[in-house]
Amino acid sequence: MPEGLDFVEVPMSDSIESRLKEDRRFPPSAEFCRHARIQSHAAYTSLHQLSLEDPETFWREHTTDLVFRTPWKKISEWNLPKAKFFVGATLNVSESCLDRHLQTGEATRAAIVWEGEPGDTRTLTYLELHREVVRLTAALADLGVKQGDRVAIYMGMVPETAVAMLACARLGATHSVIFGGFSSDALRERINDCGAKVLLTQDGAWRRGSVVPLKKMADEALAKTPSIEKVLVLRRIGHDRCPVTMKEGRDLWWEDALERKPSDASMKLAKHPEAFDAEHPLFILYTSGSTGKPKGVMHTTAGYLAGVHVSTKYVFDLRAGDVYWCTADVGWVTGHSYLVYGPLSCGATVMLYEGAPNFPDWSRFWQLVEKHGVTILYTAPTAIRAFIRAGDEWPAKHDLSSLRLLGSVGEPINPEAWTWYHRVIGGGRCPIVDTWWQTETGSIMLTTLPGACYSKPGSTGLPFFGVDIAVVKDRGEECKANEGGKLVIRQPWPSMARTLWNDDQRYLDTYWNVIPNVYFTGDGARRDEDGYFWVVGRIDDVLNVAGHRIGTAEIESALVSHPAVAEAAAVGRPDDLKGQALVVFVTLKQGHEAKDLKSKLVEHIDKEIGKFARPDAVRFTDSLPKTRSGKIMRRLLKEIAAGNEAKGDTSTLEDLSVLAKLRTDEE
Ligand code: WTA
Repeated sequence: MPEGLDFVEVPMSDSIESRLKEDRRFPPSAEFCRHARIQSHAAYTSLHQLSLEDPETFWREHTTDLVFRTPWKKISEWNLPKAKFFVGATLNVSESCLDRHLQTGEATRAAIVWEGEPGDTRTLTYLELHREVVRLTAALADLGVKQGDRVAIYMGMVPETAVAMLACARLGATHSVIFGGFSSDALRERINDCGAKVLLTQDGAWRRGSVVPLKKMADEALAKTPSIEKVLVLRRIGHDRCPVTMKEGRDLWWEDALERKPSDASMKLAKHPEAFDAEHPLFILYTSGSTGKPKGVMHTTAGYLAGVHVSTKYVFDLRAGDVYWCTADVGWVTGHSYLVYGPLSCGATVMLYEGAPNFPDWSRFWQLVEKHGVTILYTAPTAIRAFIRAGDEWPAKHDLSSLRLLGSVGEPINPEAWTWYHRVIGGGRCPIVDTWWQTETGSIMLTTLPGACYSKPGSTGLPFFGVDIAVVKDRGEECKANEGGKLVIRQPWPSMARTLWNDDQRYLDTYWNVIPNVYFTGDGARRDEDGYFWVVGRIDDVLNVAGHRIGTAEIESALVSHPAVAEAAAVGRPDDLKGQALVVFVTLKQGHEAKDLKSKLVEHIDKEIGKFARPDAVRFTDSLPKTRSGKIMRRLLKEIAAGNEAKGDTSTLEDLSVLAKLRTDEE
């Protein structure tokens, strides 16, 4: 069993308590139900039942909008851990997201409504988005990108990032988007792991009034990435504020690449793309696990597309005329599934915003909702808690009456934040969908369907279609109602990750070998007497800090790579704003003093991983509590980080005086 699975981590102590007491129910309004795609609990239940008992019929009926060039012969093949879905089908994902809308008369509908942080705006219709994707596809083909090649994308929240992803999909190249908040070291590691041939980046991106110099950071990474042959650079900021150096023979401006006349063969391929096998790798997305090495979660073509398409349509109850805004960064899975592939495959109008929620002030989101008439808003509890703290006066300045549905994702939402979101942002009339899922699941697994089910603040609701999910004990026996246990998925589902890039064994060990024959999520949960799920949080060595997944082992290996550090342990501490805060305990090598080191270690994390992984507290200590076999006792460190008495079994602790010393140490 991976270390750390013997206890359940509680991310927010106060809120967990209130989540345990929470029994309010919020049914959707009659008005909402009348127009909803699925209008009753009975309709939800019978569709869910169909999806599990007769997946062939369910998926056939619900994927009629997707473009398959060759129809599938069989819905799935399952030889643990190898899954295939839509067996025998061929398709090109970009056709479902783009071409099909041109044929159904939606060519002039806005596909992306973009607003930059400084307030510049751009709208791309489906026709224009299609044209941009075709141009980039041809340019990439001319650069030598072929089916099966990997392309790294290190960009911010600009329409071209979506264009880049779709162009890769169109060519059959597997993209790997690396969040723009990652450092050059982290970028290098990911590029080398997937062996990317081309990097797409931009000069810089706006963030809270300053420029994040993405190309400069990429240059540092590129010094040691032998697989990269070409780099395409989008000009977002301009030379005055963000000068860049272009390396002769390797780097090309995006606009120059697009303006060159493509070869006939490349243009033909871009206009009439090939169809790929249902299991062709669509993308690799790196996420944190319980070792220092990030995991390259690999998603394939048909199952992923079907999962995100059907979930976007039903969970967000999408219809023509909706302006849908998912505030997640495109560098994380939510950005992939619910900013790009899901909504575009549904023909939605997607709002894309480049910058921070509080720039120039805390009314920025609400101003955008009013200005663009946003109808559906999908954001994270961390953001909601920050808005609560900033004060009700900011949303009060704006007309939010266009909103009709709200969503939450990324971490448990505490009932206080839920009710604020419902009352202040949703005006009491918008249902809230609290969606639980993961990078590995590809699409939403747990949620309430907005017109069909009531919500309970703090609960992630019920299983989505095709999802057989349960709370179990260590050996797989199902827990009783309200009994805490491990959240597992018992049947494969179309959008599940197929493997970890270049590491089938790790995939098997992390997900399928923990509890026999089921997929282990890494989360603890309980299911109540109404069948509603309550996710407690990670029970492995992964933290969820402000909705960002951070592996404790990644932080620790970054810290011990600093010359002054002997040993390090990273743990989470409950935090009202971020859900969890990151606390690190550090012992130093002989001859090094704690004095002045704190900021150096923080800078070191910035460099090794990225600023988003900065520890909230660094605590120096002479030694770390260990078992007699030498394992660091994180459970105790967690208690100490939270300011509690170290509870539980300390009988295996090697030296009790370490504990006493740690408690008195200052942060
Ligand atoms: C957590 C983000 C409670 C959970 C989509 C999961 C949640 C991890 C929720 C995946 C939610 C996500 N309620 N917890 N609604 N959504 N989580 O891969 O611990 O970045 O395992 O995917 O976030 O994070 P990831």
